[in-house]
This record gives sequence, structure tokens and C-alpha cells, in this order.
Amino acid sequence: MSVPISLTVNGKAVTVNVDQRTLLVQLIREHLQLTGTHVGCDTAQCGACTVHLNGRAVKSCSMLAVQAQGAEITTIEGLATKNGELHPMQAAFRECHGLQCGFCTPGMVMSAVNLLKDKPGASEAEIREGLEGNICRCTGYHNIVRAIQHCQSGKAGAAA
Ligand code: FES
Ligand code: FES
Repeated sequence: MSVPISLTVNGKAVTVNVDQRTLLVQLIREHLQLTGTHVGCDTAQCGACTVHLNGRAVKSCSMLAVQAQGAEITTIEGLATKNGELHPMQAAFRECHGLQCGFCTPGMVMSAVNLLKDKPGASEAEIREGLEGNICRCTGYHNIVRAIQHCQSGKAGAAA
């Protein structure tokens, strides 16, 4: 059965009709064509599908689209400014080589933004713990942690 869902995505109000079994990640990728949010596992393990729901990082493969009725969603496409200026966390990942293939990166960045929002002064151990829900198969995590620390320093994006 198809149901209408109204929500705000990256600051824009949208209403879409979706099958009630549709996952939030499917709504984002397939109905709204926001394919920066990735699907790595579909079983709530890899974190590639992480978005912000009412300001909190969530794995969008682990909830139904209907559960997001009325919510404010931010995806990776919504982090940069309208004129294309990267969010400091995106700039930090670029400057510290915090990615290789990039598949995990949107979810990593969304989780990292949430992490520093909760704990602006997070230690290295707390950053590593905070990323436990996000899997990266390429980097060994070191440069991801460096990127988050670079963002913490307030210097990310300064050279852009
Ligand atoms: Fe959602 Fe892996 S696709 S956690
Ligand atoms: Fe390839 Fe993380 S950069 S999975």
C-alpha cells in the first residue's frame, strides 16, 4: 500500500508517495535521487547510509520511511553551502586524505559531524569509539581520525 510522506530534506519540503515497506534510505536514494547516501550492507552494520534525522545521526537502512514523517533530514548533499563551499568536516577529509575509494565517506562524514556536535573536544579514543558504527575497508581509519582532529582544530578549509 502506498502512503504519502511529508518531510524536509536538506532544507526543502517534499511529499512523496511510497510503499509503506520502503526504507528511509530507499526514499532518499530512489525517490529523491540523493545518491550520495550509500548502501553497504542493508543490515545496520556498515554506516554507509548514515544521515541526520532531526539533528541526530541515524542509519537510514534501519528505519522505515514512514517513521520519518514530519522529520528534518540532512544528507551529505546538504552539508555544503549553496554556493558549493564544503562543510569543514568535508574539507578536513579532503585535506587529510581521509578517504580512498570514498564509498564509506558520506556516512563517515555525517557520523563525524554528529560526533563533534556531541563532543567538540573528543579525544582520539573517543573519536575512534564514536566511529565504531562506520566501517571503512580502505584507509585503516588513521587518516579519518586525523581528519576529524583537523576539523576539531578549526583549521579545516582555511586554505581553500
Ligand atoms: Fe545501512 Fe550498512 S547500509 S548500515
Ligand atoms: Fe573505501 Fe572507506 S574509503 S571504504
